[in-house]
Amino acid sequence: MSSPTILLAGIDEPGLNTIDVYRSHGGYDMARKALTEMTPQTVLDELLASGLRGRGGAGFPSGKKISFIPKANVDKYLVCNADESEPGTFKDRELMQKSPHMLIEGIIIGAYAAGANRSFIYIRGEYAEQADIIDAALVEATEAGFIGQNIMGSAFSLSLVLHRGAGAYICGEETGLLDSLEGKRGNPRLKPPFPANQGLYQGPTVINNVETLMTMPHILRMGGAEYAKIGTETSAGTKVVSVSGNVQRPGNYEIELGISSREIIYGLAGGPPEGREVKFWFPGGSSSPVLTKDDLDVPYDFDSLAKAKSMLGSGAIIVVDDTVPVVSVALKLAKFYKHESCGKCTPCREGTRWTVSMLERVDQGLATPMDLDIMASVQEQIIGNCLCVLGDAMAMPIGSMVAKFRDEFEAHIEAARAANPWLGDAEPDTDPVLIQGAAGA
Ligand SMILES: Cc1cc2nc3c(=O)[nH]c(=O)nc-3n(C[C@H](O)[C@H](O)[C@H](O)COP(=O)(O)O)c2cc1C
Ligand code: SF4
Repeated sequence: MSSPTILLAGIDEPGLNTIDVYRSHGGYDMARKALTEMTPQTVLDELLASGLRGRGGAGFPSGKKISFIPKANVDKYLVCNADESEPGTFKDRELMQKSPHMLIEGIIIGAYAAGANRSFIYIRGEYAEQADIIDAALVEATEAGFIGQNIMGSAFSLSLVLHRGAGAYICGEETGLLDSLEGKRGNPRLKPPFPANQGLYQGPTVINNVETLMTMPHILRMGGAEYAKIGTETSAGTKVVSVSGNVQRPGNYEIELGISSREIIYGLAGGPPEGREVKFWFPGGSSSPVLTKDDLDVPYDFDSLAKAKSMLGSGAIIVVDDTVPVVSVALKLAKFYKHESCGKCTPCREGTRWTVSMLERVDQGLATPMDLDIMASVQEQIIGNCLCVLGDAMAMPIGSMVAKFRDEFEAHIEAARAANPWLGDAEPDTDPVLIQGAAGA
């Protein structure tokens, strides 16, 4: 099945990152149309009609998010989330690197619809090359009059500032990002108030992912109703998925939402190397509960993946084949989230730490099957009990791995004990302090 390409169409054309080549393909025509022929409300109506849902993780309807911005005459902001810190996700990097003007055009359109006159791109610190490319594009866009006062002779003015992050996963969470942008430590804020009411500098703020914003010029070009015909009824459009892990052709692929996951993993990405098969896969970045080879025919869209008890998340598919021990994946993942927890709430701070300790005990053969129950209960106590969802982002995939591969976890403990002569016939470590602490985490 071939998918319509919208965002990746012509993306490899040399020089597309320059304004001349971008404009030779109709670039900035939709920003011009919006600002000179449409009102903010009619632009918003097209976004609402398109059914576009956010591509950054939560899948919230994008038009609806803009419609929450109060109409009051106060400073309003649009912030582009280019932090792209979810493991396995590298689509925004390619989109920004190859077509930075498409992002700037999307920001102009989104900001106009929201009535925001100030905008920012918050880009992850490691994306130095992409940041330089955007900086150069910003100079070109400003010189051409697409950024600044009275853009294209309209009454609309917009400033756009690129801000480089410093390498913290939590700064991708929208309120942590806002604090970081304000020059503070990037800690998530309590919600409500939501950013639409009190965001950057306490002003109404729309925060959107790179891919979400880059889709907006295409929605105006096609018309919202036409765009909504692509994909499924509740997951409109195309999605750029990043496929990595044990596949023969890792990379970014643009797919129509609703195609089968098997088509992406095997058809586009070539499946695992010869002689191996899919053991499990993360459908939406490392935060999503894992699915197995039995789930390969699940349609790849927001609702079907939710029904399969996982999520589309950032659209990053990480494939793990049958040569990889589940314990090693779980341990690597838990270490990442432990390191990235901002430490503000106890279930996340302590829960991630306990999970790493327990998985290390599993890995070394020091654990008992009871530890697996405790570990599962720690995950349950984290989910829904934290200020932001970073805690859940560890607990959901780890919980799903223990539930779906319990036998392998137990066999791993046995094998590690047998392979460790120093353990001999000693009882497995049942340190009550460790266990009590874990249960109370
Ligand atoms: C821990 C954490 C990390 C996140 N990292 C990112 C990120 O790197 N990029 C992103 O676009 N959204 C990220 N999000 C989601 C944002 O909070 C927010 O929902 C998103 O930027 C909204 O944009 P959208 O509506 O266009 O999807 C993260 C969320 C959490 C909880
Ligand atoms: S869930 Fe974790 S990362 Fe999020 S605020 Fe709490 S401690 Fe910080």
